[in-house]
Amino acid sequence: MILNDRQKLIVNGGRRLEGELRVHGAKNSALPLLSAAVLAHGETVLHNCPMLTDVDAACRILSHIGCKCRRSADTVTVDAANVFGSEIPDNLMREMRSSIVFLGAMLGRMGRCKLSFPGGCELGARPIDLHISALRQMGAEIGEQHGFLECSAPRGLHGAKLVLSFPSVGATENILLAAVTAKGETEIHNAAREPEIVDLADFLTKCGARIKGAGESVIIIDGVPRLEPCEHSVIPDRIAAGTYLCAAAITHGELILTNCRPEHMTGFLQVLEAMGARIYTYGGGKMYFTGKKRLSASPTIRTMPYPGFPTDIQAPFTALCSTANGTSVFVETIFENRFRHIPELVRLGASVKTEGRVCVVEGVRQLSGAKVCAAELRGGAALVTAALAAEGTSEIGGLQFIDRGYESLENALRSIGADVRRI
Ligand code: UD1
Repeated sequence: MILNDRQKLIVNGGRRLEGELRVHGAKNSALPLLSAAVLAHGETVLHNCPMLTDVDAACRILSHIGCKCRRSADTVTVDAANVFGSEIPDNLMREMRSSIVFLGAMLGRMGRCKLSFPGGCELGARPIDLHISALRQMGAEIGEQHGFLECSAPRGLHGAKLVLSFPSVGATENILLAAVTAKGETEIHNAAREPEIVDLADFLTKCGARIKGAGESVIIIDGVPRLEPCEHSVIPDRIAAGTYLCAAAITHGELILTNCRPEHMTGFLQVLEAMGARIYTYGGGKMYFTGKKRLSASPTIRTMPYPGFPTDIQAPFTALCSTANGTSVFVETIFENRFRHIPELVRLGASVKTEGRVCVVEGVRQLSGAKVCAAELRGGAALVTAALAAEGTSEIGGLQFIDRGYESLENALRSIGADVRRI
C-alpha cells in the first residue's frame, strides 16, 4: 500500500490544460465486479481494472477469503476455485466502506459471512438498512452484535419481490449478487439504474446468470445453481472523466478524452454545454471538449440518482463554478455530508456559502494558491481542480482519499500540461 497520508500535491496554478487523456476503468464498477468474482467457480479475468487503493483493498479481502489474486498492468485475475474464509476482519472493512458489497456475493457462495459493521464514513452515516432488509426477505438471517454483522442462509437464499424505498446503488448490487444463485425468481423494484449496475449484470450474465432489465427500474433475476468464470472489461470511469473535464474547463482548456462513454455522462455534459463549453462526441469512446473562455454560472444543480446529475461530480463542479461568471446553486440530495471541501475551497479564494444541503457559489475572477487538505475522495478532486486555476502555488494534503478513486491524478494532469507534482 502507498503511504500517502503524508504525501502532498504541489500545484502551480494558471496553466491552460490541453491534450489527450485516456480515462481509466471505473472504481465503482471494479469493486462490485471483484466481489462478483467470488461467485464464479474458477478464474475470472478483469481488464481495464484501475490501479487504485480501493481496488487493492478489495484484492486483499479476496485473498483473505482464499481467492488467488494477481495483477498485470490493468488486468486483474481472481481465482475463486477454493474460497474458504467467510469473515472479513475489521481492519480490512475499515480500509474501504464499500466492502459491504461483498455481503451478497459471500452469502451466495458460502451461505454465510461475518463482517464488521461498516459504520459511518466521510460522507455521513451511510446506513445499510436497505441491503439488510432485502437479504432478510431472501432468506438470510442477519444479526448485529459487537460491531459485527453475522449473516447466514441456513436453508439457502430464495427469490423475493423486493421494493427499494430509494434506488440505492449498493443495495441493488448486493441483491443482484445474492439473487443470481438464489432459488427462484427475484424482482427488484425501484432498482438503481447506474451504468455500474449494468456492467455488473453484464458480467454476471457472461458467468451464466439470468438477468433482465438491468439499467431499468425493475430488474428480474432467475436464479441458477452456479456461476462459471469469464473474462470482462470494466467500463470507463465516468466520474474520473467528468473530473478531467472540470480541470480542463477551469483552465479554459481543450481536451480529448479516450476510453470514455459519453452516453454515461449526459447528466453533466448538458450542464457544461449550458455553461458555454462545447463538446463533441465520436464513436469508439472518444470525446472532444473546448471551453476557451470563462464559463457562465451553471443552471441550478440537484444531485440525483442516475441518469440525473451524479453526487460524485458535485464537488469538482463546485470548484469549476467558483470561477464561472455568475452565481451557481447546488442542492445535494443524496448524501448529507458532501460539502466538506467547501471551507477548503474558500481558502483558495472561492466565494461559497452552504446552508444544510444547499450550496451557493458566487463566481470570482481569480482564485489564489493556498495550503488545503482533502477530507474525502471527490472533495479532494475539487481542491485539485481549483488549484489548477489558482494564482501561485497550492499544497494539497489528504492524498490517501484522492488515490482511492483516481489513478495517479498528478501524472494524468501533468500529461495535459498541468504543473503538479507529488512530494
Ligand atoms: C455508490 C457509489 C458512490 C456514489 C453513490 C451514489 C460505490 C462504491 N459507491 O455508493 O460513489 O456516490 O453510489 O451514486 O459504488 N442509503 C440508505 N440505506 C441503505 C443504502 C443507502 O439510507 O441501505 C442511502 C445512503 O445513506 C445515501 C443514499 O441512500 O444517502 C445513496 O446511497 P447508495 O446509492 O446506496 O450509495 P452507495 O452504494 O453507498
